[in-house]
Amino acid sequence: MKAKRTAIVGAQRRGGIKRDPDVARPAAKPAKAKRAVLTATVAVEPPPQVRPEDVEMAVDLGRGLVLPNPILVASGTFGYGVEYGDVVDVDRLGGICCKGTTLKPRIGNPTPRVTETPGGMLNSIGLQNPGVDAVIDKYGKTWAGWATPVIVNVAGESVGDYVAVVRRLEGAAGVAGIELNISCPNVGRGGLQFAIDASAAAEVTAAVRRVTDLPLLVKLSPNVADIRPIARAIADAGADALTAINTLSGIAVAPGRAKPLLGNIYGGLSGPAVKPVALRIVYEASQAVSIPIVAIGGVTELADVLDFLAVGAVAVQVGTAIFADPTLPVRLVDELAEHCAAHGHTSFRALVGTALPRKAGPPSAKGVEYRP
Ligand SMILES: Cc1cc2nc3c(=O)[nH]c(=O)nc-3n(C[C@H](O)[C@H](O)[C@H](O)COP(=O)(O)O)c2cc1C
Repeated sequence: MKAKRTAIVGAQRRGGIKRDPDVARPAAKPAKAKRAVLTATVAVEPPPQVRPEDVEMAVDLGRGLVLPNPILVASGTFGYGVEYGDVVDVDRLGGICCKGTTLKPRIGNPTPRVTETPGGMLNSIGLQNPGVDAVIDKYGKTWAGWATPVIVNVAGESVGDYVAVVRRLEGAAGVAGIELNISCPNVGRGGLQFAIDASAAAEVTAAVRRVTDLPLLVKLSPNVADIRPIARAIADAGADALTAINTLSGIAVAPGRAKPLLGNIYGGLSGPAVKPVALRIVYEASQAVSIPIVAIGGVTELADVLDFLAVGAVAVQVGTAIFADPTLPVRLVDELAEHCAAHGHTSFRALVGTALPRKAGPPSAKGVEYRP
């Protein structure tokens, strides 16, 4: 699309084709002559010199969870962190969200579990993990030795499940916070996902809040009509921060077309294809709540990080892109600091919320967000 747009705009400039008013064009640069007049008449202050290493990068997510920088790795895409020790300096990350952790071990879904899609992938891993006790035993000591905070991603099939996992994590070595994956079926309510119902999302958040003083992040699902009441319900129930988004529900068809491809039929879509949806959810949620929002969805380069900050996120997680390049998140930390320094920002916070309206917009339930 970018290439197509460049080609169209290029042809327009050369006078080859009529300008298409639907094609967004970059802001025009001021003419050189005009700039010369300005410098002659106005004393222009040179931008303050900021060095990348002096840019303030820390992020406070509440309840004592202060990330050293705003670039984290997303749950399910960086294992438990230890797997990447040889390739990545984990202590340079802003935070690690580990694989989804449940009360009992889970073997996961039937295969095939993963397939590529245009601009992304579908996965149906099914929360394969050794269970919370094994996770603490195996990784807690290593995590405790890291400067980077490890946030344990927690999943369950009932409010009781979530509470039981969090009780075990409370006080465990190396656990800096909890991220609730509420995109799970609530067995007690006919399999209705916690994340798509404001009262169920609030109920599980409040129940976990009652049993832990650990910083509590709750992860939003994009598979809803309007995120705002759900975001508000979770914030009111005591979450310290929101993370958004989890994957979008999708399917793929098997070769021969006799059945769906994934063993589980349904999978979660992730990667660059989901970024516009993630941007919308973060844009809407950040106008609905005052707790911090950590964005996730299709980050592959610095421009994606800047976009998410502009719509109100205070930090960003990198997920699917790690499979192609595990060194990307650390590189993004450096690139973000360099970008801030080059623009004279002493803190990356100057980039947060710049694309938000001054007054909160109308709720998307009215359909105003899509006018063909
Ligand atoms: C293979 C895979 C496994 C995942 N496992 C989890 C998980 O256990 N818990 C969770 O909350 N999200 C999980 N996710 C979702 C990601 O954390 C992230 O929200 C999503 O992939 C969107 O970000 P991305 O486009 O950068 O990948 C998983 C994603 C992938 C691709």
